[in-house]
Amino acid sequence: MIDARAEAGARPWWESAVIYQVYPRSFMDADGDGVGDLAGIRARLDHLVDLGVDAMWLSPIFPSPMADFGYDVADYCAVDPVFGDLAGFDALLAEAHWRGLRVLLDFVPNHTSDQHPWFIASRSSRDDSRRDWYIWRDPAPGGGPPNNWTSDMGGSAWAFDEATGQYYLHAFLREQPDLNWRNPAVREAMREVMRFWFDRGVDGFRIDVLWHCIKDEGLRDNPANPAFEAWMGEKHKVLQTHSANQPEIHELAHAMRRLADEYGDRLLVGEICLPLDQLMHYYGTAAAPGVHLPFNFQLFEAPWDAATLARIIREYEAALPPGGWPNWVLGSHDSPRLAGRIGEAQARVAAMLLLTLRGTPTLYQGDEIGIGRVEIPPDRIRDPQDLRQPGLGLGRDGARTPMAWSAGPQGGFTRAEPWLPLHADWRSRNVATQATEPGSLLSLYRRLLALRRQHPALATGTIALCEAAPDVLAYTRESEAGRLFVALNLSHAPRPMPMPAGMAAECLCSTHGAWPGDGAGQGALRSDEGVILRLEARP
Ligand code: GLC
Repeated sequence: MIDARAEAGARPWWESAVIYQVYPRSFMDADGDGVGDLAGIRARLDHLVDLGVDAMWLSPIFPSPMADFGYDVADYCAVDPVFGDLAGFDALLAEAHWRGLRVLLDFVPNHTSDQHPWFIASRSSRDDSRRDWYIWRDPAPGGGPPNNWTSDMGGSAWAFDEATGQYYLHAFLREQPDLNWRNPAVREAMREVMRFWFDRGVDGFRIDVLWHCIKDEGLRDNPANPAFEAWMGEKHKVLQTHSANQPEIHELAHAMRRLADEYGDRLLVGEICLPLDQLMHYYGTAAAPGVHLPFNFQLFEAPWDAATLARIIREYEAALPPGGWPNWVLGSHDSPRLAGRIGEAQARVAAMLLLTLRGTPTLYQGDEIGIGRVEIPPDRIRDPQDLRQPGLGLGRDGARTPMAWSAGPQGGFTRAEPWLPLHADWRSRNVATQATEPGSLLSLYRRLLALRRQHPALATGTIALCEAAPDVLAYTRESEAGRLFVALNLSHAPRPMPMPAGMAAECLCSTHGAWPGDGAGQGALRSDEGVILRLEARP
């Protein structure tokens, strides 16, 4: 029951697809313990079908002590009891496929949990056969950690193990020891993990912190970061010159790709936070392709103005390697909520931007109903990044609060106390309420996703930026089937409507509902308005 468009077309399915990130702890709680689960996701598949997305990526569902909420994996080939079990996963996968939805899992290759049997064996003795599965070193000559690398969660990236007298490396929490990907046995074990899930039928993986997996062989000190200021968090004290993004990573990404390609049509999305020129290397080359989609996070932090966005689009498109397919991401479980950052009116414009740019969009659960900034009371903070470096505003809990499905108790998310509080306005900001309102953000998302399915120009057409007034971002999308024009007013005041010369227009969608502009494309963009017009050559 997978969408016939992709099956019939020459293009791989994921080029025309829209990916939806599910954060399982916060999507839907079916068993009433306050934490979301697989049965809950299964019960809410209607939402994804009604929305019109093509694939869902599940943040980690594997057994985990939850020091980093599942990004500390204790068994790669099972399901944590809080989420369900393997049979429940198989049922979810089968039903998702039957509903036409692909399923991507989160592959966390850089590190395991310190409770993973591999690490328990590795730390048991210097002579254990798994010792070299992780990165162990003697203390520096004068004592202390072997080098100056810092953890992304603050402090040194090295933890001392009293029993065996050595340090182990952890790029994140000390409960997340880094695997040694220079060891062929690790590579083989992780290939088996990928096979395990591919054989079960998953459609691909989002690969966690891919650029971290290989470190400098000599573990040289990182250079100090001249721009460091305390508010940035300790990880920025040094540049990650030697601790990440080493040349050998591309061979590793290519090996993962070869494995995925053995299965035909599976997708690999890489989480890579690097400058554009470095990011592009993760596509690989024609001879040695890397991941299909190195995540493009530029919209996360971009100043929200038309000139900046135009520059980002232009530079990104120009930097893509031959055959490299673009992608765009607006939100995630790691970044502040979009609507909180740019406001509700511009969140509507952002939805239109995300779903009309060239490339595969990934949208994050809850952004479709416009969950904004959620204040987390100090006694409810759960994110280890926030707890370890308090007061710096590094907390990620605000992006991880539960979905609100209805105006019922706890927003219909759970029968119990939810593990994180819901957003304050959940009684009006929930799926059931917004589904009945034609002017809601959810209705706009549905309309935009439907247009993407109807118009090949949007799904896979070319893009060309157009001249426009200040504060307006405008571009055309074109395929053999037609030509569309997108104009986005990034300001809170009316702006002139730009139009490519000599064309007449029909409005397919406005963020404001009906569009008062005339058929010749005259008129103005209202404040915070985005429109999609269909263009025709004048008779
Ligand atoms: C990725 C995840 C983040 C996690 C980190 C360590 O960045 O998205 O949530 O803390 O990796 O696994």
